[in-house]
Amino acid sequence: MSAPDLVAQLATCQADIAALREELEETNKGVVALYAELDDKAAQLRDANELKSRFLSYMSHEFRTPLTSMTSITGILLSRLDGPLTEEQQKQVEFIRGSTRELTEMVNDLLDLAKVEAGRITISPEWFEMVDLFSALRGMFKPIVSSGTVSLAFDEPEGEIKLYSDDKKVSQILRNFISNALKFTQRGEVRVSARLVEDDQVEFAVTDTGIGIAPEHLQTLFSDFVQINVPLQKQLRGTGLGLSLARKFAELLGGRVGVESEVGQGSRFWVRLPLRFHENPQTGLS
Ligand SMILES: Nc1ncnc2c1ncn2[C@@H]1O[C@H](COP(=O)(O)OP(=O)(O)OP(=O)(O)O)[C@@H](O)[C@H]1O
Ligand SMILES: [Mg+2]
Repeated sequence: MSAPDLVAQLATCQADIAALREELEETNKGVVALYAELDDKAAQLRDANELKSRFLSYMSHEFRTPLTSMTSITGILLSRLDGPLTEEQQKQVEFIRGSTRELTEMVNDLLDLAKVEAGRITISPEWFEMVDLFSALRGMFKPIVSSGTVSLAFDEPEGEIKLYSDDKKVSQILRNFISNALKFTQRGEVRVSARLVEDDQVEFAVTDTGIGIAPEHLQTLFSDFVQINVPLQKQLRGTGLGLSLARKFAELLGGRVGVESEVGQGSRFWVRLPLRFHENPQTGLS
């Protein structure tokens, strides 16, 4: 190659390099701008989280304190510590007590949901036996089912099943399933069962002979505030948070929830959980 050719080639190379440098500088500026934006977003997220935490503490204090006093004062009135009540007064106080309980449950559900979302729910795993979980649940529901037309049965699992998980969360998931099953079943039976699946998981199921759920609603049931518009629903209150909380708790425990149902026949809600909770599950079960 001749000298002038070489010079010409060098010049093009230099021009290319200059163009590349310019492009790089531009990209750099872009990256810097993006970083600044990311910082902004992170700050906004921190603020939002801060707000959620503040909301949580307000809610627990400002809402729960008066509710607790209402519960204890109605308890005192009903136990006649402050003198007799007429039949009508007794009904009214019972009504206040019932509404207070409903409101307390609603506040507790909302609080749990907000805690999950703010990442402030802690899982405290320990070893427990399934028979103990079932007998605690049986005790909890005894006063509710003893007088009704629906029976509640627990199928004791074969052999002893031990779980390393958060028993309070597992119990809360099952309580939500059972109270729904009792709510949406007018006659027949609600049955709670458990079985081992795939060696390292346990599946709890709550089966009822209630109103059932149409296929088009099955997908959305586990989302926040979803309630199905059926005649029975209109007589029953609730916020539509029970199942969404159950799903979130199951996921926190490394498991998942599901449902099978047929209108008019009944439903089967299940939760599958690992027998041993892992602090940082790779994928969960799903
Ligand atoms: N066992 C069941 N049989 C029929 N429908 C059910 C059953 N369980 C849940 N559902 C339907 O799913 C909806 C959502 O249930 P979810 O527990 O989330 O809310 P809820 O019971 O209405 O209110 P909450 O649990 O907050 O008091 C219910 O309103 C009901 O329409
Ligand atoms: Mg419910």
